[in-house]
Amino acid sequence: MTDGLTAIYPGTFDPVTNGHLDIIERAARHVARLVVAVSQNPSKTPLFSLEERIALAKEVTASIEHVEVDSFDGLLVEYAGRKGAKVLIKGLRAVSDFEYEMQMAQMNVRLAEVETLFMVASPRHSFLSSSLVKEVARLGGDVEGLVPPEVARRMKERFRGD
Ligand code: PNS
Repeated sequence: MTDGLTAIYPGTFDPVTNGHLDIIERAARHVARLVVAVSQNPSKTPLFSLEERIALAKEVTASIEHVEVDSFDGLLVEYAGRKGAKVLIKGLRAVSDFEYEMQMAQMNVRLAEVETLFMVASPRHSFLSSSLVKEVARLGGDVEGLVPPEVARRMKERFRGD
């Protein structure tokens, strides 16, 4: 990738998982600045508020160089423009992710010539999603190794009703 490149890694991050973290760590090695952009996503009813999702993402990425955490609402390409970014990073876990991601990538080129660089998930994370992790945690299953310890703790508290 290019020197001085700013890239956006967008998502709902409800909550951030070890799969996200893996993409963040790997992407950050290749860019000057990686903005982890937490979507408000009003169309979803998240387990964690926007503020909580941002705080968790900040906490688990604090030691990774070139990474900052921010939030956005509205069109992603407009947000990217405000951040001076022409490139998005997305992770692909399986072929099932591909169709929708391709549509969004093409739309973002069409809207503002914002390109999407896809990174393949590490095999050890390719089954992981925030939704599945939440379901496992909600039903009392063990999420160790699937999410950072702080996230596991917060999910436990949340499902206990704290
Ligand atoms: O983690 P998610 O839920 O898969 O992230 C999806 C997200 C937030 C990246 C996607 O919904 C998005 O880009 N939302 C911003 C609104 C937008 O720009 N929509 C047009 C996409 S082509």
